[in-house]
Amino acid sequence: MRPQPIARPLTEAALFMVATVPPDLSDDIRSLLGDAEGLTKAVGFRYPHAQLSCVVGIGSALWDHLSPMLKPKQLHPFIQLHGVVRDAIATPGDLFFHIRAEELGICFELARLLQARLPPGSVIVDEVQGFRYLDQRDLLGFVDGTENPDAGEVLGVAIIGDEDSDFAGGSYATVQKYLHNLTAWNALTTEEQEQAVGRRKLDNVELDEASKPSNAHVALNNIHDDGGEELAIYRLNMPFGSLREGTNGTYFIGYAKDVSVTERMLRNMFLGDPPGNYDRLLDFSTPTTGTLFFCPSLELLQRLAG
Ligand code: HEM
Repeated sequence: MRPQPIARPLTEAALFMVATVPPDLSDDIRSLLGDAEGLTKAVGFRYPHAQLSCVVGIGSALWDHLSPMLKPKQLHPFIQLHGVVRDAIATPGDLFFHIRAEELGICFELARLLQARLPPGSVIVDEVQGFRYLDQRDLLGFVDGTENPDAGEVLGVAIIGDEDSDFAGGSYATVQKYLHNLTAWNALTTEEQEQAVGRRKLDNVELDEASKPSNAHVALNNIHDDGGEELAIYRLNMPFGSLREGTNGTYFIGYAKDVSVTERMLRNMFLGDPPGNYDRLLDFSTPTTGTLFFCPSLELLQRLAG
């Protein structure tokens, strides 16, 4: 089974589009699912340098309409968390498009064509245009993505294999749109910021164990199974927004073949590990969306199209 183009590296630009659709218009939805790859080629072929790609995800409720008899084992609505300082909220979403390219205009063109194919009554409930900031930094000023699995490891981390063979080649995408309070963040000293993240700001080197607080972002997200094996996800976060306070932040997207790994990271961040020891980043950043999607293999996408 061929996965959708998940394993690619970060690009200069990305467009994240989440839509709700009227489930009874399933013929329109199926035809959109079937044509998404062709539409991507129609745009991308003309701009080969731009490396245009699109991953399509389907939310739990829509899946139940399209394929009531057979469902990916771990596809369910995003699990809300009532956290210590912030809640990880769940927000609606039936279809998700993760569009990436080296130019935002090319992402926009594909999004426009996909939008035109949404059935009547659909609503784009969230659209975020992300950009590369400097040397892969988030708007907090830290390099984001360093500890991602490398090219040889991504498939093993993000793409389902024999553990759910009907859905081999698929992946779970968890998305959250975080808004930053940059005024409060920038009032910290660089050392305080580094303690919140767990890495040095300028040179991106991880703090040593002795100087890394247990509530640092990387400390809470560096997790292992019972055998001591590291548990990883593939993150393709992008900065977005304008200079105005409250409009900018990080669009978090994590692909996993086992979504319980992402969910454990979220529990660590919001509820804390040990409980109460929540992620210091959450004092400065608030999720305003939260949705889980299943991204089928290219073959299954065609079969869903009928
Ligand atoms: C690491 C930023 C949300 C999972 C990092 C790093 C930064 C960062 C700067 C260090 C460099 C790196 O390895 O990438 C952010 C920001 C977020 C956010 C600004 C939102 C405001 C999340 C969420 C998850 C997550 C929601 C998981 C559900 C991870 C993991 C690592 C990481 C697994 C690597 C930890 C390790 O060193 O092993 N993040 N992140 N992040 N983040 Fe996040």
